[in-house]
Order: sequence, then C-alpha cells, then structure tokens
Amino acid sequence: MSNHSTMLPIITIDGPSGSGKGTISQQVADALGLHILDSGALYRLVALSVLQKNISPICADNEAEIYQLAEKLDAAFLTTDEGEVKILLEDKDVTQAIRAEECGKTASQVATLKTVRKALLTRQRNFLQTPGLVADGRDMGTIVFPDAKLKIFLTASTEIRGKRRLNQLKEQGINANLHGLIRDIEERDTRDMQRKDAPLVPAADAITIDTSKLSIDEVVALVLKAYKKAYL
Ligand code: C5P
Repeated sequence: MSNHSTMLPIITIDGPSGSGKGTISQQVADALGLHILDSGALYRLVALSVLQKNISPICADNEAEIYQLAEKLDAAFLTTDEGEVKILLEDKDVTQAIRAEECGKTASQVATLKTVRKALLTRQRNFLQTPGLVADGRDMGTIVFPDAKLKIFLTASTEIRGKRRLNQLKEQGINANLHGLIRDIEERDTRDMQRKDAPLVPAADAITIDTSKLSIDEVVALVLKAYKKAYL
C-alpha cells in the first residue's frame, strides 16, 4: 500500500457469516461518508463464474482455470441514485444471484485457493480511495489492510446467525429450514477458519463485539465510538 493510501481512514469489519457485517459496514460507511468494500461479493462473483461454467471448485486440477476467472473477473459495483449497490458480472446484474446459498457455499470453496486470494488482493486494495474505506470480510484486518487503525471482529452464536439468515430469506419470500441453515453456516465457518491461507481469525489488535444480544443501532454506535477514538 502507498503512503498516501495508508493515511486514509480504514475500518476493517471481519467475522463469520451472519454476524451482521454487511448491515453494520453499510451503516457505518453511510454515517461517516466512507466508501465500502464488500469483499465477500468478490468471492461470490468468482463462485458464480465457476458455477456458470460448470467447473468443480473442489477438484485440484481446476485451480489454474479458477485462478484465471478470478484474475480476469469482469465485475463492477455501481451505486444507483437511490444509494443502492448494483453488482454486475460481464455487464449483467447479478446482485441477487450471488446471494444464493449455493453461491455462498461455492465462494467458501474457491476462497480456500491461495491463487484465487492472491488474484483478488490488489482489486480489494484498490477500493481504498479518498475519503476512506469500510472493508467487510474475513481477512480485511489480517491480510488486506493490516495497517488499518480500527479493526472490528463481529461474532454471534450460530443459532442467532441462522435465525437472521432465515428472516432474510423470509423477507425475500424464500422458505428455508433453520436446522439446515445452521448446519450450512457451521460447515462454512469450519472451512473459513481452518483453511491454510488467510483463515478467519480476529487480527491481534481487533476489537471483538458479540452482536448476539445487541441491536444494529447499538453495534453501529460502538463502532462509531471506536472510530472517533482511533481517527479523530
Ligand atoms: O461474506 P460472504 O458470506 O458474502 O462471503 C462468502 C464467502 O467468501 C465466505 O464464506 C468466505 O469463504 C469467503 N470470503 C473470504 N474472504 C473474504 C470475504 C469472503 O474468504 N474477505
């Protein structure tokens, strides 16, 4: 990272699926007028390409091909006049498609590949622009922005995370089974925490917040308080 970029404020928000990272990151970014990086969306875009091309993400022979897809990923994040983010893959709107459970599972499989993580590193760092960035993911504080002065690690029990996911799906009119969702979350957590490259762990200097019993507003307030202490 250049000296210029390290001077800009960066808040990294890491944690497992369903810990509230996406919502909290968006609200913190809005409150502070900072840019946002949804790094999970990049892994999901690689996963969608892999699924569309019928490439098995768990066959070692396919790693070079998946790396090429990640390296050449033709993706764009557009903010509409209403302030919503539209995600494009090869000019097609895939904002909803990448949120499918299948895409999340495949994302966590391609995310175990060292070459894929390397291919996405510079792309992620390029999101850091004036006036600063809120970076949401699994390795934002440990690998992508290790110099950030404010690193947050969000957690919540698997039960709560499963219920949050169930409610999200209900809002979209999709029926799902809580036990199945909890099992998928646990499977994904295990893969994210146990992979060799950039495993999901809090950075040594991260502030951990358990969101299980907190409202969104309460978590946002804690992050904003920590931001003032770190940067103002
Ligand atoms: O956050 P989200 O659920 O969209 O991420 C999908 C998957 O992408 C995660 O389960 C994880 O395996 C992977 N990921 C990652 N590193 C990041 C962000 C996401 O490995 N920084």
